[in-house]
Amino acid sequence: MNLFDVYPINNITITKAKGSYVWDDKGDQYLDLYGGHAVISIGHTHPHWVKRIEEQLNKIAFYSNSIKIPLQEELANKLGKMSGKEDYQLFLCNSGAEANENALKLASFHNGRKKIIAFNKAFHGRTSLAVSATDNKNYIAPVNETENVIFLPFNDEQALEDAFKEYSNEISSVIIEGIQGVGGINVAENSFLKKIRTLCDEYGAVYIADSVQCGYGRSGKFFSHDFAGVNADIYSMAKGMGNGFPIGGIIIAPHIKPKHFQLGTTFGGNHLACAAALAVLEVMEEEKLMGNAVMIGNYLKEELEKIDVLQNVRGRGLMIGFDVPEELKGLKKNLLINQKIFTGEAKPNVIRLLPSLALKKRDAEHFIEAVKEEISLMQKA
Ligand SMILES: Cc1ncc(COP(=O)(O)O)c(C=O)c1O
Repeated sequence: MNLFDVYPINNITITKAKGSYVWDDKGDQYLDLYGGHAVISIGHTHPHWVKRIEEQLNKIAFYSNSIKIPLQEELANKLGKMSGKEDYQLFLCNSGAEANENALKLASFHNGRKKIIAFNKAFHGRTSLAVSATDNKNYIAPVNETENVIFLPFNDEQALEDAFKEYSNEISSVIIEGIQGVGGINVAENSFLKKIRTLCDEYGAVYIADSVQCGYGRSGKFFSHDFAGVNADIYSMAKGMGNGFPIGGIIIAPHIKPKHFQLGTTFGGNHLACAAALAVLEVMEEEKLMGNAVMIGNYLKEELEKIDVLQNVRGRGLMIGFDVPEELKGLKKNLLINQKIFTGEAKPNVIRLLPSLALKKRDAEHFIEAVKEEISLMQKA
């Protein structure tokens, strides 16, 4: 049997990882500023994370949600404290798409409505509703096509107001990434998020903060939507939540009250996943990783801004993007091949940085030097 190629791949086989580094099967070391797509939050194979999972594995790995799982309560408490949303309820699942799927569905159960507002360049996942709210025709199969999703320009308050006026009581929810990831690192303006809050309150719609990529401390705040100083009704999360162990979830504001069987899952919230997620929060707290994300993120942005040819350096904390001019479009590949540095990308010419929140200053400095060197080599060629 042949393997289905999920993505176009780099011809590299990684066999070992530690902190912000990975090694291939030939023993070559790479600096990882991509984090397997914003997943590695506390660093690869962090000893505390490994120990927590190992210890749990030797006790019990899985049992279904038909019994009490105290680790889930421990996780809910810790997550509530660290995110400042202590009065929210936690529902655990396995991925970002699944989290958004449940968020959109729950909003519809809550207000009995059907229409969803999403934004241009949004990415919310590959499952049916999540993909319908994703702004990419190539991902939407005919069966997922629906008139229930209204796409609006990002950060356009007037367009949002107009849509609420037009559809008023039909709008079930508004879903927005605090910082668009796949769309190319586009930061939602604070005033725009405030406007969403106001209009959702006015019209009885649910504000869903997709925090799958921009959440969990990556921006320097627990949820990047928090910069706006208003709360969302539901936050979805995954990626960094387990540092590579698959786990996702939504947290639900107290006025939304899901009933039994509206939400459900077999694997969600299993013992091993909870142990991994608790280890992540413990390390984030102990090592003050949100502070580190701000410090190293600011350093990277300042240094990138000094490199003339790179444009539009943007983002928050350790979620950074910049535009690469057409004549330097090989930069990402050259960083990987020549400098052994993984970065992320967004089409057409954006480099995305999504490293571990524990990235060290010396690694950030090394990256900046490598970028300068590769640019100067490309300019000479
Ligand atoms: C903002 C956002 N939402 C949802 C998802 C989907 O997450 P998953 O791939 O875990 O289903 C992603 C994945 O890249 C994402 O970036």
